[in-house]
Amino acid sequence: MPLIDDARKVRELAYAPYSRFKVGAAIRGRDGVVYVGCNVENVAYPEGTCAEAGAIAAMVAGGETELVEVCVIADSGSPVPPCGGCRQKLAEFGGPDVPVLLATTGGLTLSTTIGELLPGRFDAAHMAGSHVADAAPG
Ligand code: THU
Repeated sequence: MPLIDDARKVRELAYAPYSRFKVGAAIRGRDGVVYVGCNVENVAYPEGTCAEAGAIAAMVAGGETELVEVCVIADSGSPVPPCGGCRQKLAEFGGPDVPVLLATTGGLTLSTTIGELLPGRFDAAHMAGSHVADAAPG
């Protein structure tokens, strides 16, 4: 099943009573398994979580820490771009060449990559020489 179908399906489960903007995300791990997530809002607004964060959490909880493909879908006029925080979260688990498909429920799509979404990413190499670098993966 194409990743977009998983993203579309999980989007229906989003808990978004405040923004009424439902988002679905699907991630394929290196293991081939598809992990999904939806946005989960909270009456204390900053406590809400994005769809991408949910999918990443499901992937890590499933024992996978490398993603090879991403899809995000929402009911918007143009393909929904992941927020800045989610770009950094995706970059933690996928390289710059990982394909990201941004989609609308109406059928528009935009193909991009993690590298295009987050140029100049901050990564463990920037901590080289610090004691923190020794603890970083990869
Ligand atoms: N949202 C996501 O889940 N992912 C995105 O890429 C953009 C924004 C959610 C957060 C919030 O629940 C709602 O969309 C409106 O910002």
